[in-house]
Amino acid sequence: MPELIEVCALDDLPPGAMRLVEWEDLEIGVFNCAGTVYAIEDRCSHDDGPLAEGEFDAEHCTVECPRHGSRFDLKTGKPMTLPAYVPVDTFPVIIEDETIKLEVE
Ligand code: FES
Repeated sequence: MPELIEVCALDDLPPGAMRLVEWEDLEIGVFNCAGTVYAIEDRCSHDDGPLAEGEFDAEHCTVECPRHGSRFDLKTGKPMTLPAYVPVDTFPVIIEDETIKLEVE
């Protein structure tokens, strides 16, 4: 069964903002792209770079890995540029009672 975890109030993650959450042994980056919230695993599929620390482009809804520069689509987790070529995990985001929640399993 998937589990729902609370991230924060929607107001606390305005458009253009990112925050990290931990769940079990996972770190997950939660990003607000112009009002829609997306969540991806904070670990680059190329060489485990800390993706959520990379440059977040809220307009194009991408993040650039700080290690070797692969750019990832936050909506799908797919890399758009090399050297990464394998998608990273994404997590369904649910907004309930003005609170951001993630579905994890
Ligand atoms: S670790 Fe992310 S591009 Fe290499």
